Amino acid sequence: MRLHRPAFLLAIALVCADVSGSATQSVLAPTDQEIEEFLRTARVVRTRSAVKGVTGSLRATLSDGTLTHDAQIQTIDERKSEFRGGKGPAEFNFRDDWRFNVAAYKIDRMLDLRLVPVSVQRTWNSTRGAFTWWLDDIQMDEGGRLKQKVAPPSPACWVDQVRMLRVFDQLIDNTDRNLGNLLIAKNWRVWAIDHTRAFRYSKTIRKPGELIGIDRQVLARLETLEFESLKASIGDYITDEDIRNLLSRRDSMVAHFKKLGDVALYDRREPALGCSSGSTPQFEAAAPGLRVPSPSHRQ
Ligand SMILES: Nc1ncnc2c1ncn2[C@@H]1O[C@H](COP(=O)(O)OP(=O)(O)O)[C@@H](O)[C@H]1O
Ligand SMILES: [Mg+2]
Repeated sequence: MRLHRPAFLLAIALVCADVSGSATQSVLAPTDQEIEEFLRTARVVRTRSAVKGVTGSLRATLSDGTLTHDAQIQTIDERKSEFRGGKGPAEFNFRDDWRFNVAAYKIDRMLDLRLVPVSVQRTWNSTRGAFTWWLDDIQMDEGGRLKQKVAPPSPACWVDQVRMLRVFDQLIDNTDRNLGNLLIAKNWRVWAIDHTRAFRYSKTIRKPGELIGIDRQVLARLETLEFESLKASIGDYITDEDIRNLLSRRDSMVAHFKKLGDVALYDRREPALGCSSGSTPQFEAAAPGLRVPSPSHRQ
């Protein structure tokens, strides 16, 4: 049988990744483009409700004949002039939109953050939505980690990842990084999911005090973001005003880090390697500032 090359490589890579773990995965992992193609074209074999979550997303099994893998199907598309989600204040001009999952993925890759799983637009059953690669190697979410008091094996590496997550959330003005929206892979890689409530309207960074460090290359990439290329890449998913607000937040973030100076700069570990080896375990919640804030889902 003749196999389509990308699908074939994708299949081999995933088999190897399943069997032998992250080291092999980093060599053979499918490219983002291969995953995008799979998510756009593979047949939806079956669907079921996602176990967690509040927006009624689906977990689907997709197959292209060679490879079978799951995806999240998110079709939420809601607008409300006023919304009360939790104990916090009401939100005005509330939006909950699958498009933001795709936009968040694309921004993540522009900065080479690699915190967000691949997400593409796809129409299925006559409804448009985001198809997002299902992360299989998850050990728990941040809620589970805090509840069970599990310490990251390499606290410094973990903190570096959390710092990147904070940069990302403040850039995309995401106020919904609840404890279920941070997933932790078996190798302690941090994954950011669920950005349907991002792209609020702030023109400045909301919590400068939480931005205490940034990877040098991420900062350099952040500085290169500009309207035209953002519009070309994500103009179908967020408005021009959203892009302008994002660039305005970017400006205040860059100014913030320039002010902090060299002390705020570091070189992070390759994200795919995760953070599984390192120093003595210590429960991180004990150290203020390490815990990811959970504005709407406090425990
Ligand atoms: N790409 C993914 N990989 C693995 N698990 C996922 C993925 N997307 C969602 N999930 C799981 O499904 C749950 C609900 O999805 P989420 O996008 O957070 O929707 P909601 O907006 O309803 O919270 C998540 O908390 C997580 O447990
Ligand atoms: Mg969620």
